[in-house]
Amino acid sequence: MRLLSSCSERNARKIRIPEEAISNCASRQGTENFPYTCVRAATKSAKIIRENQSVMTTAVAYAQENKGRFVEELKALLRIPSISTDPEHVGDVRRAAEFVAAELKRIGMENVRLIETTTAERKGHPLVYADWLHATGKPTVLCYGHYDVQPPEPLDEWRSPPFEPTERDGNIYARGAVDDKGQMWMHVKALESLMMAGGGKLPVNVRVIVEGEEEVGGEGIAAFVRTHGEQLKADVALVSDTEMFAPELPTLCVGLRGMIYTEIEARGARTDLHSGMYGGAAPNPFVALAQVIAKLKDENGKILIPGFYDKVERPADAELRAWKALPFDEEHYRETEVGSVSLTGEPGLSVLERTWARPTLDVHGMPGGFIGAGAKTVIPAKAVAKVSMRLVPDMTPAESFAKYKAYVESLTPKGIVLEVRLIHSGDPIVVSTDNEYVKAATDAMREVFGKETVFVRGGGSIPIVGDFVRELKIPTVMMGFGLPDDNLHAPNEKFHLANFYRGIESIVRFLSGVGA
Ligand code: BES
Ligand code: MN
Ligand code: MN
Repeated sequence: MRLLSSCSERNARKIRIPEEAISNCASRQGTENFPYTCVRAATKSAKIIRENQSVMTTAVAYAQENKGRFVEELKALLRIPSISTDPEHVGDVRRAAEFVAAELKRIGMENVRLIETTTAERKGHPLVYADWLHATGKPTVLCYGHYDVQPPEPLDEWRSPPFEPTERDGNIYARGAVDDKGQMWMHVKALESLMMAGGGKLPVNVRVIVEGEEEVGGEGIAAFVRTHGEQLKADVALVSDTEMFAPELPTLCVGLRGMIYTEIEARGARTDLHSGMYGGAAPNPFVALAQVIAKLKDENGKILIPGFYDKVERPADAELRAWKALPFDEEHYRETEVGSVSLTGEPGLSVLERTWARPTLDVHGMPGGFIGAGAKTVIPAKAVAKVSMRLVPDMTPAESFAKYKAYVESLTPKGIVLEVRLIHSGDPIVVSTDNEYVKAATDAMREVFGKETVFVRGGGSIPIVGDFVRELKIPTVMMGFGLPDDNLHAPNEKFHLANFYRGIESIVRFLSGVGA
């Protein structure tokens, strides 16, 4: 023990870590966790392993010691309303990118820069890139996150304003707290901790790519990966933008649904009309859309687009069995997470299978017409429905959209002109679990949570993950620390602070493990 602490002390001097951090670290760990103490320097490799262990321990202690500051920094980032879908916030989105870049630079990452994604065809938000590639002979980890957020509306349902991060009951509340600024910040803080513990060196090679368009489809990063893939060359991607299955239960997400996000525009009369003068003769685009939408899905949740399920793969029996063993109570889920009088969806399939491994179709909103207070008797000239579909392996966005568009057009009501537009899309993905990086991740989380990791899929989408696997051809580890009740995309989004800290420690241990 004494020798161990003198080893830590040496590191501490090098990087000037406060004394408390060291003792903190020793008391947290106990001696059994240190197979390689300073006494045993028998071989060169033992020495390297020992140094790595000691750097890791010091980094964990550093993170523990500085966690208050880490949260304050995160709050500053959360104050920037980087809503990628809203043109009014382009400046804020860029400010968030600059904030992240400045911090990556400060902690000692190299080649830090913003990569513009605006082209002749489209306006895009910048990517943030950084690397540190001096761990000769070690693997390269590509750390991915996104700094953009969803719009905060409805504002009056927030208990504290969405861009004024507030701590309550061990949580930090703000738009983007968990999705994904807080989780992306865990990466940055894990890197800082390792840098400090290693005297300016990391145990692995690291590239960081943080995008500002994930919440609007991630087209910019997809184009960059396709055209400049070599600049992101890595052995594994680390993504922290998913959830844990339950509190205290370390989780790796091994599959995501893909999506196609569309708009159907219905046009009737040339201009808005008096509904008394013209009602009975003029077509109503809202009624038309309602008629179309009613034919997209039946009351059992089955999508009625011809051929839509042709490519759907049922998960393997072993995966379905593993899902059955997860601690899941459907009634509790209905009551606490959904809050509706009953659940819907395809009969005979579990909730987990319905939300992780089956396609769905949802309507998000129908802009147009009169939505003001009171009453206005008008037949609107046009109406829009925002409709998205979640896809599962082996469906493709292109084929799914083609089938949907043809079907919707075939349903066009009399007197109406329909236009079906694709807003964005992303591939579904299932990642492999049979690799050393998944093992490094489960080893890391076992240390932090004292439990074995469960493997789940996510019903959500992170479009770029498919490109990491297919374009960069690298395995992806989706190690996320959100909780089921974190209110992603909803009012009162939060991040459980204990998970922010455990996430940082898990990532420190993961990166150290990959570099061991
Ligand atoms: N982080 C989420 C995706 C997610 C959430 C995956 C929970 C697994 C579990 C991501 O930020 C997200 O919301 N993605 C959008 C993507 C879309 C706009 C292309 C989504 O799923 O709606
Ligand atoms: Mn996200
Ligand atoms: Mn999101």
